[in-house]
Amino acid sequence: MKTLVVYYSWSGKTELIATSISKVLNADLRKIEEVKKRNRFFIFISGGYSALRGKCSKIKPINFSLDSYDLIFLGTPVWASRPTPAINTFISKADLAKKKVILFATMGSSGGEKATKIVTEKIKAKKGKAIASFIVKTYRVKEEDIIKRGEEIAEEFIRKKGKN
Ligand SMILES: Cc1cc2nc3c(=O)[nH]c(=O)nc-3n(C[C@H](O)[C@H](O)[C@H](O)COP(=O)(O)O)c2cc1C
Repeated sequence: MKTLVVYYSWSGKTELIATSISKVLNADLRKIEEVKKRNRFFIFISGGYSALRGKCSKIKPINFSLDSYDLIFLGTPVWASRPTPAINTFISKADLAKKKVILFATMGSSGGEKATKIVTEKIKAKKGKAIASFIVKTYRVKEEDIIKRGEEIAEEFIRKKGKN
């Protein structure tokens, strides 16, 4: 089974989780990037508002195919209790039919349930199978503990796979 970890990260926390999952699972790692750099002084207004409205943003071309992957770990930060515009765009463009998807969302402290529910619905609408989701709190959490949480997510997946 070939596994891909694909994520968007604005301030690096979701990236920490994505990187540690990919290391533990020896999976390919791909980052979704927005075309326009977001200004950190306006991000809560512009980013938060776009996320709240369920908007998509322009992302750099996706220069990889999902064809050879059976399983995709998909990561997003939580913005205004929603997925990020970049991840909305990625899902809208991706062919997820029959793909198993495991979500991971990082958040300061709340809103992850709502965000992962929205992503789950979007994946279903694209005929993918959202088989699990993980929410990671990052507010005042040390970098090494975020990395550890990523490793735990990957290890939990390996344990569950062993049982099936
Ligand atoms: C625009 C914006 C909106 C956010 N909204 C929420 C939120 O609704 N709930 C929450 O707990 N954290 C919220 N956060 C915090 C991020 O979800 C959290 O810091 C996350 O781990 C950042 O991931 P990143 O470093 O990969 O970008 C928000 C951050 C930004 C920039």
